[in-house]
Amino acid sequence: MDVIRAIEQRRSIRKFKDKMVPKEIIEKILELATKAPSGKNRQPWRFVVLQNSTKDEMVRIMEDSLNQNKKENKSTGSLESSINSINEASTVVLVFNVFSNFEEDYNHNRLLTDTQSIGATIQTLLLAAQDFELGTLWICDIFYCDKEISSWLNSKDELVAAVAIGYPNQSPYPRPRKSLEEVVIWKKR
Ligand SMILES: Cc1cc2nc3c(=O)[nH]c(=O)nc-3n(C[C@H](O)[C@H](O)[C@H](O)COP(=O)(O)O)c2cc1C
Repeated sequence: MDVIRAIEQRRSIRKFKDKMVPKEIIEKILELATKAPSGKNRQPWRFVVLQNSTKDEMVRIMEDSLNQNKKENKSTGSLESSINSINEASTVVLVFNVFSNFEEDYNHNRLLTDTQSIGATIQTLLLAAQDFELGTLWICDIFYCDKEISSWLNSKDELVAAVAIGYPNQSPYPRPRKSLEEVVIWKKR
């Protein structure tokens, strides 16, 4: 499959088959993800891979946060649906920024740059997974329970996103996109 096909065929997948993705494939996808460009080649990412019982533990932590938020009448967005997807997925990759909580002179520009680099590695991961005909879901609902997840992992790095990976059990239509006219300006003199 070429890159254009991978870009065109990728969808956010929220339902997965009950089938493990082999470790070698996850390792290959992560290796490809690290080929992404990064500002000053800082490679600000770190990946934590969860499967089986460790993934189940994280699901329990997320469910506790969901229930707590509901009790306090706080918004939960699409957290419940994301928990279901993580539950069904073979593998979850948590993506951290390894610099933002440590560098003394970490400023807004650095955060923007490192966050773009991390976005690049996640998108590369998604497209690499597509090449293996795997489904993926990029998840920021983890921000409802980022502190709980980080403390469970005993990690001081900043959690940026989670990616659920597995064999797709749905084939969604493409979601709509804004027209090029809406998003592109060709500056003329
Ligand atoms: C930064 C980011 C965060 C996202 N977080 C979530 C999420 O927490 N839960 C979810 O179900 N989908 C999440 N998504 C998936 C988007 O909803 C999805 O990409 C968008 O609706 C377009 O659909 P498509 O990916 O199938 O083209 C996220 C996507 C991105 C890029």
